[in-house]
Amino acid sequence: MSMSPGSPKPPPSCAMVIFGANGDLTKRLVVPALYNLSKSDLLPPQFALVGVDHNNKTDQTWRSDLHDFLEQLSGSGGAKIEQAPWDKLGSAMSYLPGDFTDPATFQKLRRHLDELDAKQQLGGNVLFYFATADRFFGPLVDALAQADLLKSDKGWRRVVIEKPFGHDLESAKALNTRILKSLREDQVYRIDHFLGKETVQNIMALRFANGMFEPIWNRDRIDHVQITVAETLGIESRGKFYESTGALRDMVPNHLFQLVAMMAMEPPTSFDPDAVRAKKAEVFKAVHPLALTNAVRGQYGAGTMEGKPVRGYREEDNVAKDSFVETFVALRLSIDNWRWAGVPFYLRTGKRLAKRTTEIAIRFREAPYMLFRDTPVDELGANWLILQIQPDEGIRLRFNAKRPGPELALENVAMDFRYSDWFKQSPAVGYETLLYDCFTGDATLFQRADQVEAAWAAVEPVLDAWKQKPVEAFPNYAPGSAGPACADELLKRDGRAWRAIR
Ligand code: BG6
Repeated sequence: MSMSPGSPKPPPSCAMVIFGANGDLTKRLVVPALYNLSKSDLLPPQFALVGVDHNNKTDQTWRSDLHDFLEQLSGSGGAKIEQAPWDKLGSAMSYLPGDFTDPATFQKLRRHLDELDAKQQLGGNVLFYFATADRFFGPLVDALAQADLLKSDKGWRRVVIEKPFGHDLESAKALNTRILKSLREDQVYRIDHFLGKETVQNIMALRFANGMFEPIWNRDRIDHVQITVAETLGIESRGKFYESTGALRDMVPNHLFQLVAMMAMEPPTSFDPDAVRAKKAEVFKAVHPLALTNAVRGQYGAGTMEGKPVRGYREEDNVAKDSFVETFVALRLSIDNWRWAGVPFYLRTGKRLAKRTTEIAIRFREAPYMLFRDTPVDELGANWLILQIQPDEGIRLRFNAKRPGPELALENVAMDFRYSDWFKQSPAVGYETLLYDCFTGDATLFQRADQVEAAWAAVEPVLDAWKQKPVEAFPNYAPGSAGPACADELLKRDGRAWRAIR
């Protein structure tokens, strides 16, 4: 997020090295985001993009593969590729074939970066981006340190690390310890792509730039909060990854917790990265240790979606026929602080659900009924504030209004704000702001070591318990549904119900 007034300025000249240059993430998100930055004139004035991967490609073939892929992406809905911004990005690209575990790769990289710097005056600045499988994160930092690439007399060296950052508390701690032997915390950018979403960044603006929300943002006024991240897709070709991950690890301590933090954090004193991150970490630390009775899980079976047959999770490629890995999870979180004690945060996420939707729904306490006792009104509908994160980005407020006519009747009506009506946004993949922030050195939207560890610590009791005790009744929800019945029970117990996924 640029904090300087006026339009954002191009970041300082630098090189960016992508490990995993031929992977999906590079093709689908990182390079398209760089292209969008180029279109907005927000690439560094002198820029070198170095791809490193084990495949034997040349500068030319890497560049043209990425170009073709970008064109396919644009063909499916976005604008056509524009020549000038592509030329600026394409001419910055070079490719180094190399094994991530071979020290020779890093010596080669070092020479290459020195040459680029001498030719382009990059100020010694290098951003290393790990778009690789997570098992390489630790070894890559070690190898870069050994090749003396994590220090420079002239400029900065930063490292961007994708998720998953660890698989549980212990492994996340071990990874932090390992990388922080060679890097200072302010050189590490642990990315969570949910924070690249404008609607997620907007939560801070909504809460702290308006006088009307913050005074009611607490347990006096709020009954409970529901956070839903529903997906229609199954696990696609990621069976192997998913079998060792599951919905809880894949989505909760990272993406869903980011939404919890934005929703629940205390106002920071400034946008200084550490001021913001400290407030978020406090939320995770305040999460009451999760009891097993407050966590339920599900796995999708075979069925149909939009009239087409779909396989059950256990029939997906690279998935065990008797797998107990969850594709759905719902939790009831309690946050033990003065603002939120007594306000449950219900979280759910799953694959193959009825609709793709991500939202934070805040239910306010009801108005007293007395005035309406002797009227045809049987009950007062609830007030909800719904932050629609994706795909129909917006904010909806639900409140009661008198239906026109002589009789007193109420209707729960909605007031809507839609991003697309108000803002003319250029197409974005959600990584643009995050990459820009890495170039300018703004870590506000990235995870600090203590945040990551506190989030793992909060879910660890459930991870441990589920490891010991597989469920018997998997699969337990149909594709295209709202998830398993046990998720409904979780709220029914408290006299509440989920909002419909539709
Ligand atoms: C990823 C998960 O981090 O986030 C995926 O690994 C999930 O399983 C994805 O589908 C969801 O992201 P988005 O931006 O499509 O909501």
